Amino acid sequence: MQSIITHEFNSRFNQSPQFIVRAPGRVNLIGEHTDYNDGFVLPMAIDRAMWIALRIRNDRQVMLHSLDFSSPAEFSLNDINHGSHWDEYIRGMAWGLQDANYDLNGWDGILGSSIPIGAGLSSSAALEMVSAMAFSVVGNWDFKPNRMAKIGQTVENDWIGANTGIMDQMISASGRAKHAMLIDCRKLLSQQIPFPSNIAVVVMDTTTRHTHTDSGYNERREQCESAARIFKVSHLRDVTMDEFKLRSSDLDEILMRRARHVISENERVLNAAKALFVGDAIEIGRLMNASHTSMRDDFEITNDELNIMVQIAQSQPGCFGARMTGGGFGGSAVALIQEDVTISFDKNVYNTYLEATNREPQIFICKASNGAEVVLK
Ligand code: GLA
Repeated sequence: MQSIITHEFNSRFNQSPQFIVRAPGRVNLIGEHTDYNDGFVLPMAIDRAMWIALRIRNDRQVMLHSLDFSSPAEFSLNDINHGSHWDEYIRGMAWGLQDANYDLNGWDGILGSSIPIGAGLSSSAALEMVSAMAFSVVGNWDFKPNRMAKIGQTVENDWIGANTGIMDQMISASGRAKHAMLIDCRKLLSQQIPFPSNIAVVVMDTTTRHTHTDSGYNERREQCESAARIFKVSHLRDVTMDEFKLRSSDLDEILMRRARHVISENERVLNAAKALFVGDAIEIGRLMNASHTSMRDDFEITNDELNIMVQIAQSQPGCFGARMTGGGFGGSAVALIQEDVTISFDKNVYNTYLEATNREPQIFICKASNGAEVVLK
C-alpha cells in the first residue's frame, strides 16, 4: 500500500510525499459490547490499515483524495461542516481535535486502505486515527494514543451519532505487532500480551453489512444503561455474576439477557487474557465459543450468516474456537486455528459457507500489527 499511495501521490502532485502515516483496523478476539459498559476487551491490531501520504499546505485547507472513492475530502479548517460520506470521519476528527484545542494546519494527501468497509474491522476508527496522525505530523505535536482514542470516540458519538465505546480507537492507536491488547475501558489501561506464533487468527467476512447508526447498536447500549440503573450502578462493569444471579429477577426478560451477556463476557475476557498469557489456545477457543453463544442468544446481535459462518468454522479440524467479532448485525467472524491447517480451513470454510448462503465470503489470516505510526518522515 505504501508504494501504491506514493506512486499516486507522485503522479497527482508531481513530488514525493513529505510524510506517510498509517493506522490499522482491528479484530476483537473477545469482549463484545463490554467497552461502553466500562468493562474489558481483548482486541488485536491487524495488518490491514488506512494509509495517508501527505504534504503540508501553507493554508488551512485539507484536500484528501482516496484511492477507493471518486470525490475527495475537501474542507477548510476555519469552517468545518458535515460531509456526506467517508470524509465525515476526517472532518469529524478535525472538528474534535480543534475542539480539544489542538493546533491544526492544512495538508494535501492520498488515502489508501486495505480494510474492508463495514466488515466489523474498524475501518472508521482507523480512518479517525490515521487522520489524527496526519494532523499531528503536520502540526508537529505529539500523537498521544489514549488522548487521540478519546477524541475519536467523541467524533463517533457527537459528530457521527454512533454511541460506540472506546475499544476500536484504543487498539488502532496503540496496538503492538505480535501482541493482543487487554484494555480496561474504565481506566483506559492497556496491557500487551504476546500472541503465540503457532496460532493463526482468521477473519471470515460474511459480506453482510451493518451501520452503527441504524442497527440495534444504540438500542443495546440503552438497554445496558437501563439494566445498570436497576442495579443502581453507573455501569454493568460493577455487577458481579453472583450479584446478577441474586437480583436478576428485578429485570425484565430482555434486560436480564442483555445484562447477562455483558457480565459474563467481562469474565470471559479476563479469563481469556489469563489463558493467552500462558498460551492456552484451547481455553481461549472455549471462551470464544461461549462468547458467540452469548451474543447469539442473550445479546442478539448476530445474524444467520454470522451464525452459519461460526458454526462452520467451529466444526473444522484444528479450530480452537470461533465467534462473531465487532459491533454485530453483520460483518465478520474470527477463529483461532492451528497454523498448520490454514489452507484446508480456508478452503473448507469458503466452500461450505458459499454453499449454505449463496454468498462468497472473504477469508484472510491476520497478523498482529503496530498501532498508528509515522512510516515516512
Ligand atoms: C463497535 C464499537 C466498539 C464496540 C464494539 C462491540 O466496534 O465501535 O466501541 O462497542 O462495536 O464490542
